[in-house]
Amino acid sequence: MRAIALLILCSSLLVSCNREQADRNSVESGNPSGDSLFVPPDTSTIPHNAAGDLIRYGRELLVNFPYYLGPKGKVGKYGGNGLGCQNCHLEAGTRPYGLNYFSAHARYPQYRAREGKVLTLADRVNNCVERPLNGRPLPLDSKEMVAIVTYMQWLGKGVPVGGNVPGDKLKEIAFLDRPADPVKGRAVYEIHCVRCHGDDGQGVLKQDGIAYVYPPLWGKLSYQPGSSMHRLIKSAQFIKYNMPQDIARWDKPVLTDEEAFDVAAYVNDDKLHDRPRPDLSGEYPVRKEKPIDYYWAPFADPFPQQQHKYGPFKPIIEWRKKNGHGTGY
Ligand code: HEC
Ligand code: HEC
Repeated sequence: MRAIALLILCSSLLVSCNREQADRNSVESGNPSGDSLFVPPDTSTIPHNAAGDLIRYGRELLVNFPYYLGPKGKVGKYGGNGLGCQNCHLEAGTRPYGLNYFSAHARYPQYRAREGKVLTLADRVNNCVERPLNGRPLPLDSKEMVAIVTYMQWLGKGVPVGGNVPGDKLKEIAFLDRPADPVKGRAVYEIHCVRCHGDDGQGVLKQDGIAYVYPPLWGKLSYQPGSSMHRLIKSAQFIKYNMPQDIARWDKPVLTDEEAFDVAAYVNDDKLHDRPRPDLSGEYPVRKEKPIDYYWAPFADPFPQQQHKYGPFKPIIEWRKKNGHGTGY
């Protein structure tokens, strides 16, 4: 109850800053398509009061998750591996096209096809804790969950309810006319990824043994099948516009579309690389809502597993459009 009261207090204190923020949010930020990318508020504008402390704590949890809530976390043990939110949601979830949280608060509660029901933002946070972090859900009324949701709300000030803002999703990538090729992907990996993620894809753990300098990309300590990052299109989109991490950005990608698809196929290949195996049998109760690149049978369309896994995706999209099935990915 205390946590809920805090949340309400916090929301009402934040309202006054909304207008100013909406103006700032339209600042131009070098998007080649000409749209202004959403600019999240600066951390210096977090108020110095109880509400602000909650926002700061939420941000800190998302930046340093393993230290607080990982397997060796000092506040609680919820994460099941050493991954942290920021290994994927870059720069505390503020990076355009880098799995940011810009519109997360504005778009939840939301119907989710994977569960076949409406989830709150806190439920969605727990999805990522359970998978890719292979952990167990945080209590919904814990101070930590409230802080995380409050930070996301603060970050998305000015985003219309249920709406989107430029830069919030992963950036689109042109689909290939052939299946993605893990063998070609391996060559891409050796040129562009090995220097950080390592030959064996296991990354580099910090000296304290709690969090990663470079996260693992496969293996028992990595994300599982059924995680969004394990789907080819999402993975290729993320990689193309964010990796190699030190030089690539949405406006200066290093890889071509082909290289991004091939390396994503290599990283996510189940025959080459082991991962934890969650039970996926209850996923997507409405089969025709499965994302086109979710490759766990049964399928409501006639395409084989191999094609859902590696593409080509255009024929799947065409068939699904014609037959009134979902075309999401
Ligand atoms: C291995 C990568 C990875 C890690 C680690 C990870 N996530 Fe995610 N997360 C994703 C992907 C991929 C999506 C799906 C984004 C999409 O649908 O475009 C996602 C989606 C989300 C969303 C929904 C965002 C929206 O706008 O719909 C939230 C909230 C979220 N993650 C929170 C977290 C939190 C909190 C943590 C840490 C406890 C975390 N994630 C860890 C990859 C990751
Ligand atoms: C300069 C070092 C570096 C290089 C090179 C690099 N990465 Fe990363 N990668 C990182 C770091 C660091 C993160 C965690 C995010 C962060 O801290 O910004 C990351 C995160 C990731 C993630 C999401 C987290 C996870 O555990 O899955 C994927 C996927 C990924 N990298 C794939 C690649 C691929 C594929 C390449 C080659 C095209 C590549 N990276 C090249 C440093 C690097």
